[in-house]
Amino acid sequence: MVIVKLDLLGDRQRTHYCGELRKEHAGKTVFLAGWVDVRRDLGNLIFLDLRDHTGRTQIVCNPAISAAVHDRADEVRGEYVVGVEGEVVVRGPGTVNPTLATGEVEVMAHTLLVLNEAKTPPFPIEDEIKTSEETRLRYRYLDLRRGRMQRNLRLRHRSSQVVRAHLSEHGFQEIETPFMTRSTPEGARDYLVPSRLHHGQFYALPQSPQLFKQLLMIAGFDRYYQIVRCFRDEDLRADRQPEFTQVDIEMAFPQREVLFDIIERLVEKLFALVDVKVERPFRRMPYDEAMEKYGSDKPHTGFGLEWKRISLAADDAGKVRVAEPIKGLRVPGWSGASRSQLDKLQETAKSLGADWFSYIKVTDADTQSPLVKPLGKPAVEALAASMEAQPGDLVLLLGLKSATSISAFRMLDNASGELRLDIARKLELIKPGTWNFLWVVDFPMFDYDEKEKRFAAMHHPFTSPREEDLEKLESDPGSVKARAYDLVLNGSEIGGGSIRIHRQDVQRQVFKVLGLSEEKARERFGFFLDALEYGTPPHGGIALGHDRIIALMAGEASIREVIAFPKTASAIDMMCESPAGVEQEQLDELGLSIKEV
Ligand code: AMO
Repeated sequence: MVIVKLDLLGDRQRTHYCGELRKEHAGKTVFLAGWVDVRRDLGNLIFLDLRDHTGRTQIVCNPAISAAVHDRADEVRGEYVVGVEGEVVVRGPGTVNPTLATGEVEVMAHTLLVLNEAKTPPFPIEDEIKTSEETRLRYRYLDLRRGRMQRNLRLRHRSSQVVRAHLSEHGFQEIETPFMTRSTPEGARDYLVPSRLHHGQFYALPQSPQLFKQLLMIAGFDRYYQIVRCFRDEDLRADRQPEFTQVDIEMAFPQREVLFDIIERLVEKLFALVDVKVERPFRRMPYDEAMEKYGSDKPHTGFGLEWKRISLAADDAGKVRVAEPIKGLRVPGWSGASRSQLDKLQETAKSLGADWFSYIKVTDADTQSPLVKPLGKPAVEALAASMEAQPGDLVLLLGLKSATSISAFRMLDNASGELRLDIARKLELIKPGTWNFLWVVDFPMFDYDEKEKRFAAMHHPFTSPREEDLEKLESDPGSVKARAYDLVLNGSEIGGGSIRIHRQDVQRQVFKVLGLSEEKARERFGFFLDALEYGTPPHGGIALGHDRIIALMAGEASIREVIAFPKTASAIDMMCESPAGVEQEQLDELGLSIKEV
């Protein structure tokens, strides 16, 4: 680093930000401060583009006005921090910069203070850079200096403001709940915090404030919300971080439609921040329909391509049973799919667990399919007709050769969903700038875990079964539907919630279905079961994925782009280098020793 003699700011106060000056300011003496974005030395004149979070202004260092300023400008480099006092002048014809909001003016510097120098940054401070994410995260403070990241985090701030204003308007109270608590199951592993005072005991960081918000309803707060950090030790992806933020909401005496309306109006206000007009009310779709048609519980409904469950070649008709179950998908206009395209799809289908794949090409002249041989042409034509295939269309068929279990059916659904997205991407059916909101409702209450031979809660164990299904909890838990719902946007789950169990007997019964003994239930949730006995009102709520919503609003593919200091996909903070080892002394205090692996 060049050592430059630094100036003192003294009591100088900025008069304007770097993005503010316009023609009307001409003739004014201003004091700006910020970072040197670009320095251009034309010999007799030096130009500095001065940048702060609002934009850039061109500073002219002219020796005819001040030789001292020109000499000083000779010393500065990119990212130096400077203060400039000078006069705003209108730029001459031909020198106006139409790409800059301040491009009609420039500041003739009288004084140039070099407040701090800077090393050459490892990447340019520009919107579009090709630098690896690792380097960006290692120097996150520089990455955040880029306009794009500034805009994203400022959008995040505005989003939080809108959430607070909207929910306050609807009577929700912002209440903080503990971070050092005990485990609440949301399906992930807990992050644990060892206790110094109680060796061998651990706090868990909350996967969500689920039980606390329910306790606040029991306490009579009526409506609660919190913009809250949640912690989950799970495999990370572009839309998952180990610590992330929920807009967590709960209300007493809830009617689902009232909650949906409050949330839809909130989403409408949020998207207005990025000039998107949201159509309300959002579409609602039962889980079963989502799985059958879209092979996903968070379907992207912005394009067609709907699967249909079909049956084919029954044994009793004397034909070959090729597979069961089978799903078919009509892909309009894709009868020209090439051999290699179909082979690739088949490979993808196989990798997703669907071990049977076929297709029918319908053209004006003919109907072609590998199924013609085993099934005969009339059967194949009938099948194409049942899929409403027109000349020019392709029908894809996906199946399992042998499937008996519920999870196998789910595997086929999941495979069909992935394949649908794969085709949509290939055929460029997903149009940017469209916003497809959807409530998925009527989830099953339980998921059967074939390996463990037991039921697991599909949402969480505090979700209420549908009132009309209460009786089936004991006799046929697999068929019980939950009063749960997810909010989906363009195929991304941006929120999830439910009407809760408010009766202790039902809660116990649900724990029982989940294979949680009375003893275990008491040990883990005794405080909560006790609380349910003291006048618990019906209640329900939702948690929105704040990071995901902001990423979608900002048009970013990863939530890391809207979180100030995120972790990498392997849960590492590149900048602080955490997780990290600790001193032996600290371990001793906590009564911990590390096992060598
Ligand atoms: P759920 O587990 O569905 O529900 O979480 C709510 C929403 O939080 C977002 N989300 C995440 N975002 C980023 N990184 C993660 N690792 C992550 N995990 C979840 C999703 C999701 O829809 N207690 C319940 C809510 C309730 O029932 O009221 C809960 O936490 O957008």
